[in-house]
Amino acid sequence: MEFITYEQDGFVGVITINRPKALNALNSQVLDELNETLDAVDLNTTRALILTGAGDKSFVAGADIGEMSTLTKAEGEAFGKKGNDVFRKLETFPLPVIAAVNGFALGGGCEISMSCDIRICSENAIFGQPEVGLGITPGFGGTQRLARLVGAGMAKQMIYTARNIKADEAYRIGLVNAVYPAEELMEQARKMAAGIAANAPIAVRNCKKAINDGLQVDMDQAIVIEEKLFGDCFETEDQKAGMGNFLEKDKEKKLKVVPFQNK
Ligand code: CAA
Repeated sequence: MEFITYEQDGFVGVITINRPKALNALNSQVLDELNETLDAVDLNTTRALILTGAGDKSFVAGADIGEMSTLTKAEGEAFGKKGNDVFRKLETFPLPVIAAVNGFALGGGCEISMSCDIRICSENAIFGQPEVGLGITPGFGGTQRLARLVGAGMAKQMIYTARNIKADEAYRIGLVNAVYPAEELMEQARKMAAGIAANAPIAVRNCKKAINDGLQVDMDQAIVIEEKLFGDCFETEDQKAGMGNFLEKDKEKKLKVVPFQNK
């Protein structure tokens, strides 16, 4: 792979978009490599992923403007589908994904972060959907996910004005969960990922699916989705060990739910 690196650190996989000369902009090759990287993640040995960008300036500065500049209408639509397919794979990936946003998250960069479950960022992060200034709409899910995350009014303001926002404003509007000094960002991301990985993996996966799928339907259907995924956890090693530890009344074990195994 030329533009993606993958590092396995215990139960946590770290995906780095590594095209720093173009501020990690997403061209077709980056999207293809990201797709292949996700396909290659070992779901038996990995419990959480972190997605970040190489360098200290940019997470992802958007889709590649050079590549897009000569596209026809049909090619533009196909490029949008290519990005959407990969981002949807990320969003529905069986494991939780934390975006560690280390700088510019513009256009496709903001959009890929929104396809992750959780966003944390460095103090120098800048978020925005500058597409209308380039004569296009956001094309990798921005019109849909930004409105769902921060509300239609704020999303419309950001998208229509193409105004970028700094980390503190992104935090204020709920686009990111936390802001850290740049040098602490990856440590904090790893800490959060390790915390997730210490919990029952089947239960965590089912929580992700319940939240994602439930948000797409009305409440009556949503609670049925939850019931099925809740029921699915029973009879697993994780459920037996987790509840067994509690019932043993062993204070030490009660707080640490171990060992967890896949089904
Ligand atoms: N596409 C292609 N190349 C890009 C890029 C992008 N989105 N963003 C940055 N680069 C390249 C620059 O062309 C430059 O390359 P060269 O050194 O070969 O000239 C290199 O990265 C460094 O960039 P700058 O010199 O511009 O760095 P800067 O510090 O002066 O500015 C920046 C940084 C404000 C992020 C600026 O690069 C910028 O505005 N980039 C474009 C941001 C943008 O508009 N993103 C949205 C793209 S559209 C989109 O994503 C559509 C969609 O929804 C799918």
